[in-house]
Amino acid sequence: MAVAPAFATSGDDLPGDAEGLKRTAAREGVDGYVRSGMALGLGSGTTSALAVLRIGDLLRSGELRDVRGIPTSEATARMAREAGIPLVGLDDARPDLTIDGADEINASLDLIKGRGGALLREKIVAASGGGLVVIADGSKMVDALGEGPLPVEVDRFGYEATLNALATLGCEPELRLLSGEEPHPFVTDGGHYTVDCKFYSIPDPAGLETEIRSIPGALECGLFVGLTRAVVIASEVGVEVIESGLS
Ligand code: A5P
Repeated sequence: MAVAPAFATSGDDLPGDAEGLKRTAAREGVDGYVRSGMALGLGSGTTSALAVLRIGDLLRSGELRDVRGIPTSEATARMAREAGIPLVGLDDARPDLTIDGADEINASLDLIKGRGGALLREKIVAASGGGLVVIADGSKMVDALGEGPLPVEVDRFGYEATLNALATLGCEPELRLLSGEEPHPFVTDGGHYTVDCKFYSIPDPAGLETEIRSIPGALECGLFVGLTRAVVIASEVGVEVIESGLS
């Protein structure tokens, strides 16, 4: 899919540090796409957290009204409640759009997500309607997906067999562990494990997504293909918004 910049703003007043760039992307994404009355998928991760805070600020100031959030993780739900955003589930509403971060973004606006550990719920919400508005700093743009590991959420039952099956796809799979006195597997909000798969380059994201889905223990992978409506990228030179044509 060919995409073209929708608009760009100058880099004047843009803070250059990573936190500042994330804050800028979150603000521009919220201000550009979120409107009163919307049901909003709320992503997970550090950039999404800044978007949640921005939405809370706009609700408090009265610039936004009647926004309901559909959170993609327990952490986001907690933060949204604290920010004063009323929450609903997918049984109550379908998102008008989902605002979320990403780990890698290619020129077709396909994504790798999930290094923050919430990919299954993020994908369920993003795929349920409205498309994704991705907010990110410029470091997330890549020539080809797969520079870093691709997370795959897997069932705990038989996860060793699932790891072996993932390895047959040409990657180095590694069970995500939390460090501590005794390293132990990271467990998602849904009670699953995450396997980080090093492919180094993923030339056919849609094809790989299909292959991973054919493995019984692999519940979902972090490839988000054809779900992006727009990306809002903040870098030292300015903010660029690229729209995919998806609405
Ligand atoms: C959470 O599971 C992820 O998909 C995050 O959205 C992604 O890792 C981006 O996170 P940051 O905004 O913290 O970089």
